[in-house]
Amino acid sequence: MTSALFPNPVFVALDTPDLARALAIAEAVKPYVGGLKVGLEFITALGPDAVRRVTQTGLPVFADVKFHDIPNTVAGASRAIAMLGVRIFNVHASGGGGMIRAAADAIADIYPRPLLLAVTVLTSLDDSALTAVGQATPAGEQATRLAGLAKESGADGVVCSAHEIGMVRKAAGADFLTAVPGIRPAGADLADQRRVMTPAAARAAGADILVVGRPITAAADPASAARLIAEELGAARP
Ligand code: C5P
Repeated sequence: MTSALFPNPVFVALDTPDLARALAIAEAVKPYVGGLKVGLEFITALGPDAVRRVTQTGLPVFADVKFHDIPNTVAGASRAIAMLGVRIFNVHASGGGGMIRAAADAIADIYPRPLLLAVTVLTSLDDSALTAVGQATPAGEQATRLAGLAKESGADGVVCSAHEIGMVRKAAGADFLTAVPGIRPAGADLADQRRVMTPAAARAAGADILVVGRPITAAADPASAARLIAEELGAARP
């Protein structure tokens, strides 16, 4: 499936506490990617002004804040992140239906309203890591269950492993967005990721957003790493 929403589905994860470095990577990869992702490392070190600065690149920004708290707190935090002008942000689906609904309600009257995604199961966790935290349900089954909950609680989509897209769509419908981290071009270092897939395979599986961090940001030449991925996806600009 090709998402009309993000013709180039690659969002680069700017996982750095260094704003100048983040902006340099953003400018270098801009012709080859569809958006930028800032997460906990970036936001905690650099704060809201730096998020606003990244939105000024003109690329859509995904704030990977993964909120997980009581509904009232998540509602306030969701409004605050939405006011920074990000296109997408997320909460942990395991925070419960009431918490996801509180996030959705809190941003309902903000224009343009950002997309709300719910994180299902972190792609760094495999079944044995899940068992160790007391969750006996296999990752795929748990992700599917949380996708159904996210959908009925007002989320626009989920963050899940590319391996779970089919199951998620079955549970939540064809229009439910999927953002997938754990993307690794063939032969790339897995680092701490476990449930991985190549960019082309993840796109073919129907992912709307591909989150790619270190395969681009840790490359000797981030621009050419991003260009190769765009070419693999047929998303390179002429
Ligand atoms: O460097 P790498 O490509 O592994 O980066 C993946 C990015 O996606 C990181 O920013 C990480 O925080 C994020 N992420 C993830 N797994 C999730 C949700 C987000 O790896 N389930």
